[in-house]
Order: sequence, then C-alpha cells, then structure tokens
Amino acid sequence: MRVPLLDLSGQYRALAEPLRAEIDEILATQEFILGPKVRAFEAAIAAYCGVPHAIGVSSGTDALLAILMALGVGPGDAVVTTAYTFFATGGCIARVGATPLFVDMDPVTYNISPRALEEYLANKCQQRQDGSIADIAGRTVRAIMPVHLFGLCCDMDPIMAITQHYRLQVIEDAAQAIGAEYPGANGTAQAGTIGGCGCFSFYPSKNLGAAGDAGLLICRDDALAEGLRICRQHGMEPRYFHHFIGGNFRLDEIQAAVLNVKLPHLDGWSAARRRVADVYREEFSRRGLDDHLELPAEPYRAAGLTNHHIYHQYVIRTPRRDALREHLTRREIGTAIYYPVGLHQQQCFDYLGYNEGDLPETERAARETLALPIYPELTREQQAAVVDAIAEFFDRPAV
Ligand SMILES: Cc1ncc(COP(=O)(O)O)c(C=O)c1O
Repeated sequence: MRVPLLDLSGQYRALAEPLRAEIDEILATQEFILGPKVRAFEAAIAAYCGVPHAIGVSSGTDALLAILMALGVGPGDAVVTTAYTFFATGGCIARVGATPLFVDMDPVTYNISPRALEEYLANKCQQRQDGSIADIAGRTVRAIMPVHLFGLCCDMDPIMAITQHYRLQVIEDAAQAIGAEYPGANGTAQAGTIGGCGCFSFYPSKNLGAAGDAGLLICRDDALAEGLRICRQHGMEPRYFHHFIGGNFRLDEIQAAVLNVKLPHLDGWSAARRRVADVYREEFSRRGLDDHLELPAEPYRAAGLTNHHIYHQYVIRTPRRDALREHLTRREIGTAIYYPVGLHQQQCFDYLGYNEGDLPETERAARETLALPIYPELTREQQAAVVDAIAEFFDRPAV
C-alpha cells in the first residue's frame, strides 16, 4: 500500500467550500495585503495564544528575520541556537550580519540542551564589566533562539533561568509547534509565549498550513510589537518615512483567510496526530520493534497537558536508518530525514570553523533519525502498512 509522507488533499476536501468562499470574497473586494482578513487572523491567534500582540508576516523565515532586525541584532553580535533545525533558524542570524553560535541538542528530545547552553555560556563566553556577554571572538551574545522541534516544546524553565542570569533575549522559533504546551514552574505555557517573542510558520505542511507561504510573530511587549509592525513594511511609519531598514514581510489576505478557516480545527488536528502517534507506539511495542527503534519522547505527557506534543513530525531513530529508509521507499512508504546535516556542518557555514565531532549528539541524530507519515487523515490501514514494512525490515514475524 502506498503511504505518502504527507497528504493534504483530505483536509482540503473537508474545507473546500469555506476556503473557496473566502477566496472569492477577496477577489471580489480586491483587497490583497494587510486587510481585514489579516487583522482578524492576528486577533484570533493572539486570543489562541493568550498574548496581546500578533503580527502576521510573509513566512516563518521572515518572522525570524523581522525580530532580529527589530531588535537591532547585527554585525558584531551573536545568537546562540541549535544546529539541529531547519536552515532558516541559523540562516536568519547570519543574514542580519550576526554570528550563529551552535550548541548541542538533547539526544532524547532533539531540542537544544539547557545543560549544553549553560556550559557554553559559562565556559566559552565572558561577562563584560557592563554585564553584557561576549563569545570567544569578542562578539556580543544578544539572544538565544530555542527551536521547539517537531512540535515538542524545549525545556524552557532552565533556558529562561540561564537567559535571565545573562540578561539575554529569548526568541522562540515555534515554526513547528503552534499550540504545543510546556508545563512550566509558573503553570502551563504555550510555545512562543515564554520568551520575549515567538515565531510561527504556516508553510502548507505545518499543523496549521496556509495555501502558500505565511508566518506570524507574537509578543507581549507593546513597543516591540510596534517595532515589528513597522519592520514588516520596510521600517516605514508613516507612509514613506523610514525609521530603520526593515523588509517586505507583509502577510497577504488570501493566506490569512485560509488560516482563519483552518485555525478552529487546529487543536482537533493536533489531537488526531497524537492518536496516530499513540497507535505507532502501541504497534511498535506489540511487535517488539521498540527494541530496534527509539520512539519520540513525550516528556510532558505525565503533566496532564492536552497539547503536550503536537507531532508536527513523528521521528524515530535507528543506527540502520539509511537501509530502513531504502526499504520503506521500495515499499512505497514516504519518509524524510529532518535533518541530514547539522547547521554547523553546512557548507555555507564553513567560515564559522566548526569541525566534525563538535556537536556529537546533533551529528548522531543527523545519521539516525527518520520521519514517518503522520497527519490527521492517515488511516489505520496505512499505519498498519508502515508498521508491517518496518517489521519486515527488522525481520519480525507478522503477529
Ligand atoms: C524550525 C523552523 N524554523 C523556521 C522555519 C521557516 O519557516 P518558513 O518555511 O515559513 O519560512 C521552519 C520551516 O519549516 C522551521 O521548521
């Protein structure tokens, strides 16, 4: 049985009518950019996340870029992040002229390791007399960018404690984690609402996907929100008066309209993804495959949170990853590798001078992880086909 890694057609079929009506309305009004649909979407997301400000932008990448620009991060600055992430995280830091500093990840959650972060800041950086902190090359460390990978929140309490100690900004890359919850010491918190600013992507394959590129920033600080609104229009306020260099990071009405239709379904879809993850777990364990595979960790499940994981991706690991992937491809099962190379080893970052072995857990994950099909419409039969094919690979009899 053919099982694609992702199939969005079922979701479209269910929502075709309201989606088409919304798009027709926009075509009738010819209001395409930063209009009422964008304002409605911003208000809806702000309410969903429980924050005062939501600023729609053109993509998740542009959300990251906009916050770095609005904070004035640039040449001579550095931002600490994980190397085990989509390129945009590190790429945006470099694009504003700052230096990405990569620390290793936690091998269980795949998220940035608070211990590695703490060790890096304590041992490889120096606090200056004015309280700012510099890396070994004298660059000012301005911010930390944790990434809530695959739909699981980073362990934010220790990260926030470290960043408060060093007085660093926290920019949450929540591109993959809208709605994911974290059981913090101060209560349950949503991805993107814990640091100073949260960035979301609505790339079509995300749990909440647009019909093209779209993104959004959330924050609590009024002045920062104002800066971000100005930044998304070339730093312009009022018209044709430019405070600083921003960009064209505007969200368009058609994307916002699609997202307005889909947002009320988001939590239901994430719950359906969790059910798919539960079936994988039960089936892998019933067939004895959990000896061969490491399954995704669910560190916050016991805390009783609903969205303890939103399973943007379902990622397993095995040292035999490449052979398993080839086998699944032969069986017409879609898989993907997120990510085959840590950012510290990307050719474009050669100039940063990282070497093999610098981030051993990132490098091991890049060799061993494999994403399996997960989406709300995935059927039991399709899941059984995935599990059967994996059992066949590990030579486990059918049961
Ligand atoms: C972790 C992470 N950061 C940033 C982005 C960038 O988002 P976009 O593709 O909307 O530009 C993505 C997108 O996949 C992502 O996964």
